[in-house]
Amino acid sequence: MEKLPLRIIQFTDTHFFQNEDGRLLGVDTSRTFAEVFRVARELRGIPDLYLFTGDLSQDETEESYRRLSMSVGKTGAPCYMLPGNHDRREEARQGLSDGPADFRFDKVVVVAPWIIILLDTLVVDEVGGHLPPSELELLEKTLKAHPGHHALVCMHHHPIPVGADWLDTIGIDNGPEVLDVIDRFHNVRGVLWGHIHQEFEMRRNGIPLMATPSTCVQFKPKSARFAVDAIPPGFRWMELHPNGTIHTGVSRTSDVAMGLELSSAGY
Ligand SMILES: [Fe+2]
Ligand SMILES: [Fe+2]
Repeated sequence: MEKLPLRIIQFTDTHFFQNEDGRLLGVDTSRTFAEVFRVARELRGIPDLYLFTGDLSQDETEESYRRLSMSVGKTGAPCYMLPGNHDRREEARQGLSDGPADFRFDKVVVVAPWIIILLDTLVVDEVGGHLPPSELELLEKTLKAHPGHHALVCMHHHPIPVGADWLDTIGIDNGPEVLDVIDRFHNVRGVLWGHIHQEFEMRRNGIPLMATPSTCVQFKPKSARFAVDAIPPGFRWMELHPNGTIHTGVSRTSDVAMGLELSSAGY
């Protein structure tokens, strides 16, 4: 009998606030998340696991994380997270542990024949990201220890330029070092991130590199300067097959986020 794929739903850049009246560029981020979550359930059901790839919070408060957990609720599927530039590690752990959703903080998740590696690119008080030697070592050691597993490598910031000047100054400042590690192994099947608030997909040495729309505000692809995109929020679904292939796509809600300030000059 053919083995079933591992089904994943990625939500990214939820940017929750502690207060109900918190807004990001005019958008109630908890409201847009609830709608994206509803659509994900409707279209894809409950996956084997959820991935939250950073910027879970906008205001760095424990309460913002608690509100996110409340919004997810008890689904029966574990939620793995990694931090983004808007997150705080301790507050995230505390707030997410308090809530009803099953948030977990493992950096390596083994679901044979797959392994998911969650890297931490957060540099406190910086918008851009960096992978310190400890994270590069974790990546290398994990890939080395699981040569028979297919690996999905996840992080918040982008490790390669995405063709938008302003975003390309706030990616990972040592992206080539990450790619060097990945290139030394033959079992990495995909690289996944958030942060850029837009869908992105390219292949590098046959491996898909993917980014995903935020569950709230979107940024315009290929824009030299900061620009908001009038396109609805969304999520990414993935099926990781036992033979190492990844089937994936992005789905969106039907409407642009309510209240979105399209002319914003920054965030
Ligand atoms: Fe973000
Ligand atoms: Fe970010």
